[in-house]
Amino acid sequence: MPPSKRWSGIAFLLLAAAAAGRAQTGALLPEVNAAIAAAAVQTTGLLARIEGRTGQPRTWQNGQVTLVGPSDWTCGFFPGVLWLLYEGTGEARWRDAAARATAQVESAKNNRGTHDVGFMLNCSFGQGYRLTGAAAYREVLLTGAATLATRFNANVGAIRSWDFGTWRYPVIIDNLMNLELMLWSARAGGPSTHATIATSHADRARADHYRADASSWHVVDYEPTTGVVRGKSTHQGFSADSAWARGQAWGLYGFTLMYRETRRPEYLEQAGRIANFVAQHARLPTDKVPYWDFDAPATPTPPRDTSAAAILASALIELSGLTTGAAAQQHLTLAEQLLRSLMSPAYRAAPGENGNFLLLHGTGNLPGGSEIDVPLIYGDYYYLEALLRYRARFAEPARLLNLSSRAFVGTADQVLIAGLVVGGGASRQVLIRALGPALGAFGVAGTLNDPRLRLFRGSDLIAENDNWSGDPLIAEAARRVGAFAVTEPAGRDAMLLLTLPPGAYTAQVSGLGTGQGVALLEAYEVRETLP
Ligand code: GLY
Repeated sequence: MPPSKRWSGIAFLLLAAAAAGRAQTGALLPEVNAAIAAAAVQTTGLLARIEGRTGQPRTWQNGQVTLVGPSDWTCGFFPGVLWLLYEGTGEARWRDAAARATAQVESAKNNRGTHDVGFMLNCSFGQGYRLTGAAAYREVLLTGAATLATRFNANVGAIRSWDFGTWRYPVIIDNLMNLELMLWSARAGGPSTHATIATSHADRARADHYRADASSWHVVDYEPTTGVVRGKSTHQGFSADSAWARGQAWGLYGFTLMYRETRRPEYLEQAGRIANFVAQHARLPTDKVPYWDFDAPATPTPPRDTSAAAILASALIELSGLTTGAAAQQHLTLAEQLLRSLMSPAYRAAPGENGNFLLLHGTGNLPGGSEIDVPLIYGDYYYLEALLRYRARFAEPARLLNLSSRAFVGTADQVLIAGLVVGGGASRQVLIRALGPALGAFGVAGTLNDPRLRLFRGSDLIAENDNWSGDPLIAEAARRVGAFAVTEPAGRDAMLLLTLPPGAYTAQVSGLGTGQGVALLEAYEVRETLP
């Protein structure tokens, strides 16, 4: 068979496989693993650069790292980078650094002056909660969601973005990203109205922000008393009617997450249309890293925006996993092209260069003359998220075996101990339960009255819980894995729902105080991961 025929035969088989189900390649996995390791080395240097200084890195300009405080919209991304490196490497030093950085941005939970509370908290406390299950992080997130809800106006049906400028009620496309916090809150014990706010906002964005070609305006200004659209414009794009690259990326990511959380088909359809707009755009360069605006004049050559590329890559990996057939393959192929470019020396900084940020050539606000052709911490965050999403999708799918062990728990050293191993090449979400009071419903006598659950990696305590308190996310995870429902009203059993990097762990159950009695220790892999 001539080579061209052989290749077209292979291409046909790949297409047939894709058409039949989920998109597949995973061809970049070795490079992705190497890029995660390289990101850890590079960020070690960034931590050294800011040693002893307060604030979160945002960019590097004129030989200096710019640090920002908890009122800056980008403050959550560096804590998020550190959490993602913990997930990527399993090393305690990243978790400790992430926890320190996260603590510095806590006051964002009370910031009523911006829609960016979602960005600020989700990437810091949200990632921390996902990876540690710490109840204190959950409280910060719920408070932040309540704060963000104060910016919702029912006449408009959307969350107000900014308080500055001459607009009356500006809503920017970026704001879709903040809806993730609202939807999470509604599932995690916050008011159900938080979900209604999120869907209402997304519905208005779909109706008002999008043009017939599936590109978006940046800013839509509403009349706050009637909800009537007053005007459509841009703040960071080339012109009112242009397609600002990062705006297209926020929209793609936003509608993808809306579909993941609600399963409403119109959100998936919207995400698919945006993906097609980007993928088929005549001015998308061959390396797929967009110019800062799709409509920027061609001469002189416009700057690229690697942050838009990274957001697109991360969103497309998720979207391809939520789609089947040829569309799934198309989204994954573009994501791989983007990642291949971003991991190359054209866009990824050499070790120790670029102020130790990961990506070169971001564009923050070109019309405002700020942050042009520089690293941007949000570009780094979504790049790392895309790498980890890719790894989670294609790494060797070794499984945690579910375990269950019942024993008498006494005082001092008489703790109940079980080992669990997260195998394979990627992190896994697990549910671990230390049950005492819950066993009463099954007629077990002499149960441990108030169990405490602690999880170790080596001698390192990585998570603990005393009372699960009826956490709705944990109840939902238990339902999904088929564990029996715990209805004991005081919530004194101990449980952890968290995402663990690959490695060997030890779970320990002890009684609080002098308590002793029978306890059951269970661990489950949550295969259908909760966001
Ligand atoms: N959300 C602000 C920006 O994308 O620049």
